[in-house]
Amino acid sequence: MLLAVERDYFTDRSILDDPNAFFDEMLGRGSVYRSQLRDVVFVSGFAEALAVLGNAEDFSSLIAAAGPVTPLPFVPSGSDIAEQIELHRAELSANELMVTYDGPPHAAARALLSRLFVPSRLKANEAFMVDYADRQVRSVVAQGRCEFVKQMAQPFVTLVIADLLGVPEEDRPRFVAALDAAPPPGNLNAPVRTENLVLKFIGGVFRDYIASRRATPRDDLLSELANARYPDDTIPDIDEVVRLATVLFAAGQDTSAKLLGSCLRFLVEDKALQSQLRANLALVPNFIEEVLRLEGSSKITSRLARRDTRIGDMAITAGTRVTIFLSGANRDPRRWEEPAAFKLDRPRAREHVAFGRGAHTCIGAPLARAELRVLLTHLLAQTADISLCETEHGPPGARRLDYEPSFIIRGLTALHLELTPASQGQSWEAVQ
Ligand code: HEM
Repeated sequence: MLLAVERDYFTDRSILDDPNAFFDEMLGRGSVYRSQLRDVVFVSGFAEALAVLGNAEDFSSLIAAAGPVTPLPFVPSGSDIAEQIELHRAELSANELMVTYDGPPHAAARALLSRLFVPSRLKANEAFMVDYADRQVRSVVAQGRCEFVKQMAQPFVTLVIADLLGVPEEDRPRFVAALDAAPPPGNLNAPVRTENLVLKFIGGVFRDYIASRRATPRDDLLSELANARYPDDTIPDIDEVVRLATVLFAAGQDTSAKLLGSCLRFLVEDKALQSQLRANLALVPNFIEEVLRLEGSSKITSRLARRDTRIGDMAITAGTRVTIFLSGANRDPRRWEEPAAFKLDRPRAREHVAFGRGAHTCIGAPLARAELRVLLTHLLAQTADISLCETEHGPPGARRLDYEPSFIIRGLTALHLELTPASQGQSWEAVQ
């Protein structure tokens, strides 16, 4: 086996089976490491990751979605490339996604969206989640088996965000099908990003939603977004509202569904943990935080140095591409005691960087946490046991598990489960 530093993180499929071994080895090379294979600086240290994510002045998010392998549409020159970035922003792939915005346009987009994610709205959406999770779980428990990732997790997260936004019910199956067929972001088979056709499709439908809700508002979140104003009371351009609505719909699909898959993998591989959680469902949120830390579904994000600066001891010149190993930082022993251990009672576990940090910290984190808690609680409450289907995945020690071929997303492509019903299921109300 090649050393981690000899393997190209952006194309090497062997990393998919055990990315944590790769991240640990990279961390052993230093918190900040200049790749010999690509023109990229890797950040693995927790403190250094926070420093980069928290420094939106020196680091642009322009390449956060496309990644560092997609060529820049300009050759960086000088000690400050802020002007070059703005001049060429529109030419870079994925520039329409808010995760790539910088400065005032980003702050304005955040201001529009964060108003929508208020606790009262999430509470109302939770009623939908609870009802849908209950029906979905009862149906698979009655069958005694399911393929969890595509059959349960993916439709669940798609329909929850569709309900939150107010996507009409009759349109929802189209989105489920389109998202199901899409390649993951950060495709290992094509690390240079090209146009994303699924986002284009979703954007087209969302344009109609926004236009019709500007004309005739309804009682839903899309109408609020369509008619929202910036803090200075100006009305956003319709194209911008469509972009934001699209990204809101799409950004939490793969990430949440794949995290659900990883949660289930932990549960089937550690039956003592599964029993402990079933006996005390109040521990489910702690469980979710440890899975986020140890198996976060966004492994990395990337930044472009806007001006000459430093990360830790390393001098960074303007134009340097920086990839932050979020999943590596979440295993840094300088921050985490026994980082590889799964600890339900880990203090300050929520401080992991699985949702990023700083100006671009995940806006959907409260929604993701609620989705995970609701579906996992229902599954545990309605079963006496959940096991991995060994016909599909092989016995312990010789498991056959396939992970998304992505340098961004971490998660299983499929997870076949066998479910034993609880003799007496616990109701959602009783476990709250
Ligand atoms: C387990 C599930 C999720 C994970 C692991 C995750 C992870 C992340 C990370 C790491 C970032 C920061 C990227 C960066 O700084 O470059 C981010 C940003 C973002 N996430 Fe999530 N996410 C999840 C679920 C969601 C959901 C459910 C939504 C939508 C409802 C969502 C919407 C967004 C948006 C819009 C941004 C961009 C924020 C900005 O640029 O200011 N995410 N997410």
